[in-house]
Amino acid sequence: MSSYEIVHHEYDAIVVGAGGAGLRATLGLAEAGLKTANITKLFPTRSHTVAAQGGISAALSNMGRDDWRWHFYDTVKGSDWLGDQDAIQYMTREAIPAIIELEHYGVPFSRTPEGKIYQRPFGGMTTEFGKGPPAQRTCAAADRTGHAMLHTLYQQSLKAQAQFYIEYFALDLLTDDDGSIKGVLAWDMATGQLHRFRAHLVILATGGYGRAFFSATSAHTCTGDGGGMVLRAGLPLQDLEFVQFHPTGIYGSGCLITEGARGEGGYLTNKDGERFMERYAPSVKDLAPRDMVSRAMATEIREGRGVGEEGDHIHLHLEHLGPEVLHQRLPGISESAKIFAGVDVTKEPIPVVPTVHYNMGGIPTLWTGEVVTLKDGNPDSVVEGLMAVGEAACVSVHGANRLGSNSLLDLVVFGRAAAIRAAELVKPNTPHKKISAASEEKALARLDGFRNAKGSTPTAKIRLDMQKTMQKHCAVFRDGPTMSEGVDKLKAVIETFTNDVAVSDRGMVWNSDLVETLELDNLLGQALLTIVGAENRKESRGAHARDDLKERDDKDWMKHTLAWRAGDRDVKIDFRPVHMQPLDNEVEHIPPVARKY
Ligand code: FUM
Repeated sequence: MSSYEIVHHEYDAIVVGAGGAGLRATLGLAEAGLKTANITKLFPTRSHTVAAQGGISAALSNMGRDDWRWHFYDTVKGSDWLGDQDAIQYMTREAIPAIIELEHYGVPFSRTPEGKIYQRPFGGMTTEFGKGPPAQRTCAAADRTGHAMLHTLYQQSLKAQAQFYIEYFALDLLTDDDGSIKGVLAWDMATGQLHRFRAHLVILATGGYGRAFFSATSAHTCTGDGGGMVLRAGLPLQDLEFVQFHPTGIYGSGCLITEGARGEGGYLTNKDGERFMERYAPSVKDLAPRDMVSRAMATEIREGRGVGEEGDHIHLHLEHLGPEVLHQRLPGISESAKIFAGVDVTKEPIPVVPTVHYNMGGIPTLWTGEVVTLKDGNPDSVVEGLMAVGEAACVSVHGANRLGSNSLLDLVVFGRAAAIRAAELVKPNTPHKKISAASEEKALARLDGFRNAKGSTPTAKIRLDMQKTMQKHCAVFRDGPTMSEGVDKLKAVIETFTNDVAVSDRGMVWNSDLVETLELDNLLGQALLTIVGAENRKESRGAHARDDLKERDDKDWMKHTLAWRAGDRDVKIDFRPVHMQPLDNEVEHIPPVARKY
């Protein structure tokens, strides 16, 4: 193995990732007086949160009657009863102060004529515990809400004196001799230098792994790097089989057209010009939750009612909204439609198709952000020194299906919650424990192995094979035989990666060949757990829709999947109960019923 010089650092806490969740956690830690570092592979304002468009939910009642308990109910129902009700209560209740806090930090929300934060309707958000009309609950900064939040949170973190290590790629978690998490090994991509960060607490905020699929609204950087590190540390991931398809990715490029477009009055049609959502969700129509709209679109296409030469997509109409609304409320997607579909939204419909958008599953945590595993029969056994927040985590507030605009909320509420818990756990300037030499050597050996890989198959070819396999075999509709075939294909892809990956650049400075290979390693593990977990789950629930097992089965399957990697090609599966009880008696638990809209 080559020898590597390592620069050493010590912090009270470190956060990996500078999207919305990572920045909110960083800000909270720094404000609590902890010596805090943020390690991020991207410049913070380039993190994928920048692409979040439509908004962030909170029952502010600015545009009609609302109540956070209705938001709680909608989120439990939206999750198809796989969401943890304690965490959902925490998120929906804390949403209100969290948004006001963002406003005070300086997020430039759109405004009502009287100067309140503007709120639009989003799918599955209702009033009166599902019995009333749609709620206007999603707070927006036009259709650039994530962008606005990210800039504000980065500025506030700098003001609070957090230290940023930008364009540093986190390689692996480091432990002490007892196996507790004590830091991270990272690679400064610009200089080629390796850095060892010791800390009492590591918070992973590395986002999702949407790029395991061929067509995704996620940025190319969404490679599940935190999930990959967790699997290599011998810990499980939770519920990866639940992958959200956003109904309106632009046909061809996969770029997001916000659900806010339908919130503002946009609607979908098939080749006959029919507003088909009226048949699938008579009460809420185009504002049904994403899993239902995506299934409806896929059904229209499958049954020969898709639009276009190949009948393989659907039309989204915004023409009737008029140039003024489009300019004021939806300027970003008007531009995207022009660039990526050649469409003038004031005159023509946008060609759209369900596109991979979000991972409901991730690193299992409590509502405090603490990572948990199954140990000695305890499904909530806390992993010392490790937290996770944002899309990288599975709290689980989204269960089997996330409601639109609950993601930006999850980022800020649980980023903040993790910082609050960290301040209880870590006393500033406490001496650090020794990192185990074996854990550091293992991380270095992995890096060195890929850096010197001498196979014959380029990383890009293996990545494409993985993406095509996942797209075809783990789609909106799934069935047993298709998924088993996918599992076999994916194992063959992993075998090629393990035995024959080619890395041609041996340098350490801006070696994008090596970065992409390390990212692919992270993606492959999560792709495998996704398709194996999906094949294993013998029911349909939320975004996991099986053609061969169409019903939800609460008796046998109202439980979270926990999955570990067992060697390169195998997966070990166990389960964790859903938290059905809320935190306290401010709300009553919502018992499962058939999910109809
Ligand atoms: O459609 C959107 O604007 C996306 C929002 C979300 O995923 O929450």
